[in-house]
Amino acid sequence: MKVKGVEIVFAMETEFNALIEQVDDFIIEYANSRQKLINVAVADLVKAGGKRLRPIVMILASKFGDYQSDKLIKIAAGLELLHMATLVHDDIIDEATMRRGELTTQKRFGKDVAVFVGDFLLTKAYNLFLEHLSRNSVLKFNKVVKLICEGEVDQYQSKFAPDLTINDYLRRIRRKTALLFAFSTYVGAYESGIRNTTLSNLYNLGLEMGMAFQIRDDILDFVGKKSKVGKAVGQDLLAGIYTLPIVYLLDSKEDSKQVKEILTKESITEDDVILISELVKDKQAFAKSQQLEERFLDRAHYHLAQLPKNEAKQHLNYILGYQVSREK
Ligand code: IPE
Ligand code: IPE
Ligand code: MG
Ligand code: MG
Repeated sequence: MKVKGVEIVFAMETEFNALIEQVDDFIIEYANSRQKLINVAVADLVKAGGKRLRPIVMILASKFGDYQSDKLIKIAAGLELLHMATLVHDDIIDEATMRRGELTTQKRFGKDVAVFVGDFLLTKAYNLFLEHLSRNSVLKFNKVVKLICEGEVDQYQSKFAPDLTINDYLRRIRRKTALLFAFSTYVGAYESGIRNTTLSNLYNLGLEMGMAFQIRDDILDFVGKKSKVGKAVGQDLLAGIYTLPIVYLLDSKEDSKQVKEILTKESITEDDVILISELVKDKQAFAKSQQLEERFLDRAHYHLAQLPKNEAKQHLNYILGYQVSREK
């Protein structure tokens, strides 16, 4: 099976790859439905690839405690199911045509079907967590899902708003993305019996990594290659979603006038997006966004440094390093 991301992150770790393959197989089996179209949609999404970063960091966090692989496969599947549900719904909202290098569910089967596929995936994630997690973790999960929805609505409401501040942006990405990373490391640790400072260091490590992760995703929307990221680029701006590089451009003395003029036009064209992407690439906006990403990674490293020394710690260190250079 094609597990693109893991091949990159854990090229040397065949044992780890095998575990993620088991997670994928389990998802396909667990998400089985009498409705064949749902099976096809889910299997397509799983087989298309994806980095499996949330399951990976969850499993690594669990290795600081009592590691139980059977239970972890189910938790990993639950995290990926929830993540896939958010992607399927996100692609409806964004009218995205490509995800993980393949057609999106909404493009292939239509929006109506995609709404239900997303809901179906969400119920499956809940089912797994209710069966296998402690009440504490299920309640935490519930809160994370609530906050993801609020973060997404927040983003929707601030579409085309040129007065978005860095703090608005950070609050949004914390909810829509970083908290799921934090929950991933937390749940892996908590369900493996870890408590106190090790638990909070793992939670914070996930949170800071998640912040850096979304900043990188937003940078890649300007400078990334469609063939690498597996989804169309330049889409955020077209949809009126202003992300960190835009906040910096609007802040800059030389460029803000030109950028504001473009952003306040009746409608933005592909050429405008190319122009703004060039400005992002050439000017401070890119460097500053990268610097902020690195600040979050530094904070993640700080929490990592507090953890006991083991192999999982090395892998987490590797993943933080991979983050700055990732192209997909
Ligand atoms: C995409 O997440 C959505 C964001 C939070 C940026 P990923 O980049 O982890 O997507 P996959 O799972 O690898 O496809
Ligand atoms: C996704 O953020 C956040 C979710 C909760 C799904 P993006 O909108 O940036 O994700 P992509 O770029 O479409 O993958
Ligand atoms: Mg999107
Ligand atoms: Mg994005």
